[in-house]
Amino acid sequence: MIHPVRWQGDHVSLIDQTRLPVAEVWIRCDTWQEVAAAIRHMQVRGAPAIGAAAAMGMALAARPIAADSTLNPLDALLAAQQGLAATRPTAVNLFWALERMTRRAVAAGSSGSDWATVLTEEACLIHDEDVAMCRAIGDFGAGLLPAGARILTHCNAGALATAGYGTALGVVRSAHAQGKVSLVYVDETRPWMQGARLTAWELRQEGIEHRLIADNMAGHFLHRGAIDCVIVGADRIAANGDVANKIGTYSVAVLAKENGIPFFVAAPSSTLDLSLTTGDGIPIEERSEDEVTHLAGHRIAPEGTRAMNPAFDVTPARYVSAIITEAGVMRPPYEASLATVAGARLKATT
Ligand code: MRU
Repeated sequence: MIHPVRWQGDHVSLIDQTRLPVAEVWIRCDTWQEVAAAIRHMQVRGAPAIGAAAAMGMALAARPIAADSTLNPLDALLAAQQGLAATRPTAVNLFWALERMTRRAVAAGSSGSDWATVLTEEACLIHDEDVAMCRAIGDFGAGLLPAGARILTHCNAGALATAGYGTALGVVRSAHAQGKVSLVYVDETRPWMQGARLTAWELRQEGIEHRLIADNMAGHFLHRGAIDCVIVGADRIAANGDVANKIGTYSVAVLAKENGIPFFVAAPSSTLDLSLTTGDGIPIEERSEDEVTHLAGHRIAPEGTRAMNPAFDVTPARYVSAIITEAGVMRPPYEASLATVAGARLKATT
């Protein structure tokens, strides 16, 4: 199983997800600016993976060799925090990781500890904790699935989207290990094709039976009774259980409810944003029109055609059958159940 974000002692390695599945190319980042560019250009993507990469970007910024002589060390760290925070707006794991790193830097500063060492340790901890959370999510989620489960997933919420193992695909991995998975339907996920390029790549590597479908086929299979449940990841979950995830998730959730199919969201506590009462406050990233008018660099629409490209949508909580977290399976009312997840997290970190 792949770990797409790696601390290498003095630099960060990232598998370039824009090149998969055609080529497995690792990129080297020696500075936080290079990490920020990799996040912005989707070379590293998926909410928890972005968080882990940003944390490592902060650790790079704290290295004496990275010291910017025009800034004092604290200002240099704050510049890194702000630069990394400006990369992508929707996945809250990014801001969660940056806040955690900043808190750690401030605490280390007042105790006179060496920032580079402390922030490297913290970034590696964020990475390792994410893998552990994904494994727990996988195990809790597997318990929800029937024997011989036929699962639909959207986008890529796999090892590539996390520090390792995956959230939605973590559930698939754990259920597969228990012999419970008969087939995974993989939405191709226009416009970036995370399903076709990344989820299919991971499932092939794991030897898990799957079929790639165009996004507009999901309703057909849900209506025909070919799918037992939908499992997706999340980029930000509000206190009431509204879920922001890859564009197209909302349509799948509505189709699932219409056809009486459970719709599960798998996400670690670092994806919760309980400061937002509903999903209305979640910032939705708008990306370039070219990503819609072109496919793999080739124009598919007439010259001059304007397009719209929101990268995420918000699925209202009423469509979400359960949210699978590292603390267990949360059910409605989410205001109460998600608060217990946040509480358990707080207890574990204090
Ligand atoms: O634009 P992306 O590829 O970063 O979007 C990723 C998703 O929407 C994933 O479903 C989400 O981050 C969950 S990752 C475990």
